[in-house]
Amino acid sequence: MTHTLVYPIATSHNAAGHLEIDGCDVVELVSQLGTPLVMYHEGSIRDQCRRYMQAFSEHTDDFEIIYASKAFSSVAVNELVLEEGLSVDVSSGGEYHIAKAAGFPAKRIFFHGNNKTPDELRYALTGGVGFVVVDSFQELDLLEELVAVRGEQQRILLRITPGIEAHTHSYIQTGQVDSKFGFGLGDGVAVEAIRRALAMRHLMLVGLHAHIGSQIFQLEAFRRAIEILVRLIGEANARFDFNCRYLNIGGGLGIRYVDEDMPSSIGEYAAVKVEGVRNEMSALHLPMPRVLIEPGRSIVGKAGVTAYTVGTIKEIPGVRTYMSVDGGMSDNIRPMLYDAQYQGMLANKADQPADTTVTVVGKHCESTDVLIKDARIAKPEPGDVFVMPATGAYCYAMASNYNGSPRPAVVLINGGRARVIIERESYGDLVAKHRSMRD
Ligand code: LLP
Repeated sequence: MTHTLVYPIATSHNAAGHLEIDGCDVVELVSQLGTPLVMYHEGSIRDQCRRYMQAFSEHTDDFEIIYASKAFSSVAVNELVLEEGLSVDVSSGGEYHIAKAAGFPAKRIFFHGNNKTPDELRYALTGGVGFVVVDSFQELDLLEELVAVRGEQQRILLRITPGIEAHTHSYIQTGQVDSKFGFGLGDGVAVEAIRRALAMRHLMLVGLHAHIGSQIFQLEAFRRAIEILVRLIGEANARFDFNCRYLNIGGGLGIRYVDEDMPSSIGEYAAVKVEGVRNEMSALHLPMPRVLIEPGRSIVGKAGVTAYTVGTIKEIPGVRTYMSVDGGMSDNIRPMLYDAQYQGMLANKADQPADTTVTVVGKHCESTDVLIKDARIAKPEPGDVFVMPATGAYCYAMASNYNGSPRPAVVLINGGRARVIIERESYGDLVAKHRSMRD
């Protein structure tokens, strides 16, 4: 069996037996730009945005697709999703800054976070941020005060924790009762938050938000979250005449990393979310709100491929063969943190059978620095180019300088051209902010 990548779209191999992404020979690209190299395929990102827009428009006219920029927060990708008509969510002052640098109108930015600092909030308010998703009573009071000082009004949503355990890794579940995020339903906390928010003079409570987790395959969890949210809306409507104009049901749609993964389609996801809201709201004779969703992983995950150079190959007879690459946990911490599974291939041997089993490890001084256990690839040699697909979400975004590793370069591929969208860090960058004791 020869290995080709399932995605990004427009992936093939050429006459030289090299992997090509949308007309770019990956081996050539790497020889020019070095490794590790993170490659995004522009067409794949745009395609996902369009699928979301199309799928939701089949169910409602009143919706908003909001890119969860934490998955990969870069100026260029923010520019792309803006062009595709998406809004953006940010989880920090830094992500807000990047979205603004990409030209996002502040009105289309949603600001999340369980511990937004006063400085971050002030920064976003000064720019005219569209929506703040308020996470706690403390933040409600703080924001009221900050907005009052400015003599303005601010639209807010409240983050609700619906108490759902989504079927995903426990580290990326966020909607369960025992969570640092949002207002829980127990002891009437969420109802009280709505009551207090409605009473704030400078805050306009326009809706609710819930995000139950990430990399979710079973849509049933979303259906249950919607049921619970709408029950809460019904109660707040009856008690305080609360009108929920925006209902944000988060992101979370899973993607395929390995052959066995069977994620739901964007079409199925849109149907569950929009029809779920419609059914539940109409059962309570409440008007249909604007449906907001916040996909991150499913926008950029499949568009990203990371290329490494193969270095040391250590064969332990009867045990296993370790194949080291020139990156690892500093550019992709997901296998170590979440037990995330990936597949890979040798980009310079794309036409050769994947008949060798190796354990792909990084170059860091940790035994846990394993990218893929028992990968099936063509027979490797030092200098080969190893690529891992589906590394577009939460990889560069979570990259570090561990072991003094400069962060990789990132390119955007489109129609045979690759444009650098984030430059490779240099050794100089590693010490640029350091101050010597001799200074
Ligand atoms: N909205 C909120 C409020 C979120 O917290 C998240 C993700 C999203 C939207 C986007 O979810 P997505 O569509 O990407 O599933 N680092 C982990 C994932 C953490 C997700 C954090 N929140 C990983 O690498 O799997």
